[in-house]
Order: sequence, then structure tokens, then C-alpha cells
Amino acid sequence: MKTPRFIQLHRIDDAALADEAAAGLRAQPAQVSPKFFYDPLGSRLFDAITELDEYYLTRTEAAILAAQGPDIAAAALALAGVAPVLVDLGAGNCAKAARLFPLLAPRRYVAVDISVEFLRQALQALQREHPALDLVGVGLDFSARLALPAEACSGPALVFYPGSSIGNFAPEAALHLLRQARALAAGGALLIGVDLLKPTALLEAAYDDDLGVTAAFNLNLLKHLNRLLGADFAVRDWRHVAQFDAAQSRIEMHLEARRALQVRWRGGERAFAAGERIHTENSYKWATADFEALLHQAGFSHVQRWSDERGWFGLFLAGG
Ligand code: AVI
Repeated sequence: MKTPRFIQLHRIDDAALADEAAAGLRAQPAQVSPKFFYDPLGSRLFDAITELDEYYLTRTEAAILAAQGPDIAAAALALAGVAPVLVDLGAGNCAKAARLFPLLAPRRYVAVDISVEFLRQALQALQREHPALDLVGVGLDFSARLALPAEACSGPALVFYPGSSIGNFAPEAALHLLRQARALAAGGALLIGVDLLKPTALLEAAYDDDLGVTAAFNLNLLKHLNRLLGADFAVRDWRHVAQFDAAQSRIEMHLEARRALQVRWRGGERAFAAGERIHTENSYKWATADFEALLHQAGFSHVQRWSDERGWFGLFLAGG
């Protein structure tokens, strides 16, 4: 049986993260990157979100792959070649990509996430199920720069970026990431999941569910900042806000102060007026034609798309 290889490329620097978060709190208006959602509890809350009735994204993407997987895989293999290297961006528990193994029969699976520690258990379990498969875990913050060392990936690859995580990038940054994904695929292909435009009520419910799980996910960021920065946020002084901005085609998440208050942290402080907000996330929703145009702008010449019956979510395969 083979054993997974692990390569940590990105150094997780708590002091730099704390400086970044503090700069965001001082900004006008205040803003904190969505990456601060994902402490251990935040990651669990995100998993719970994917199970909510209102959060259709994960379930709809899985249904498209279950129903149309053989078709999608045949098209992907035609572009990337048989037995491809499968590169999974934001792999986490590796479950989505593993469901594609029977269809793609990859010769190597490269799971990329911010820390190899998030990948270790999942890859070890996968190795037991697929003893002959070459497994590589790479710790990389690819939102900063997406490139892999040759020992992980060289030559044509099938790059898999599911879950509409591309939606958390503004269009310019998304274009930049798609260009890098094309370079990484090196003549292979990109298979990417994208949440599509739909009525506002459906979108806002997906980001403000009845059980309050998304509210807890958003508010938990304050607890994370308390630990990281030595801040004194009182979670009960804040409320979760999720609104669709049609002009920008994005759901915005904010934390809104319920009353006038003062927040202190190591090396800084700020007064917030009642109703003042901290912007924590954008989740862009794409029209099919606009996302296809973005893929072409990124240099892909060949684009195919699969969707669910309601046209809520798209899986785009791009090559060339
Ligand atoms: C990870 N990302 C695709 C999620 C989204 O839908 O934008 C994060 C999320 N935020 C609130 N709910 C889920």
C-alpha cells in the first residue's frame, strides 16, 4: 500500500493574521476577510450550513454530479486525458472529489487546502480505500497565489474547484484565479461549481436560515477575533445581516452593532455606532453567460456546462 505525501507550502503566521484582522477593523467601513470564519468551530458550522434546507448549493451540486457524472467525466477525460492528475482546490474532507474517483480513475489525487493538517486524516482514510493511488496533500493559501511544485503536479491536470467558492472572490480576483487555474491545468481542464442568479428571496434565505446556523457562523468570527487579537467583542451586542445587492450580484454578510459600543484589542480600539457594520463576506451569484464569458476571458477556449432542472447551480468544464 502507498502512503500519502504531504507538502506544506504556506506558513500559517498568527501575528500576520492578527495584523490583517486589526487593519480591517480600523478600516472605514470595517471589514474582515471571510477566511476568519474558519476556526475549528466555524468549519463545523459551515458543514452544518451545507445540510440546511435553505442552503441548496451543496445538495444541488451533488445532485448534478450524481445524475450527470458519467457525462461530465467523459467530457473531462476527453480534455485532460485518461488517468489524469486530479487537483482538488479547497479539498477539506476530500469527499466531493472521492465521489469522482470511480468515474475518472485518476493516477494521482492532489488535495490542496490551507493546512495539510486539515487533509491528513482524510487522505489516510482514502489511501486505505485506494491502496495503489498516488495521494498528495498540499498546504497552500491559493487565494494569494495558485501554483504547485512539480513534485505535486506537472503536465496536464484536471483541476476541480467545487462548492461555488469562486463566488467568494470579486470578479477581478475571480478572473485572476481562473487564469492561474488554467496555467495549473497546463493543457488539461478545469471543472468548477458556480452558484447561479435566482430570485432574491431564495438567495437571502440561503444566507439567513430559520435555525440561525448561518448567523452563528458569522458571529463566531467575533469569537475567533477575540482569541486571535485579544479583542473584547461581546457576541450578544452584534446581529447577523445577509442582503442581496442586485447591482453587484452578490449576497453580502455583515455583523451589525445592536447599540453604540467600544471594542478593544491588543494595540487598538474602535467605537461602533448603533447600526454600524463589519462587512464579513461577499458571495457572488453569476448568470450563466457571464461566467462563460469570464472563463473565455481567462483564456479557456472550450467551455461546457451542466445544471440542475431549476437552473440554480452550474458545473462548468473549461479547457483549451
Ligand atoms: C464557502 N462559500 C462558498 C460559502 C458561500 O456560500 O459563499 C460560504 C458561506 N457563507 C455563508 N454561508 C455559506
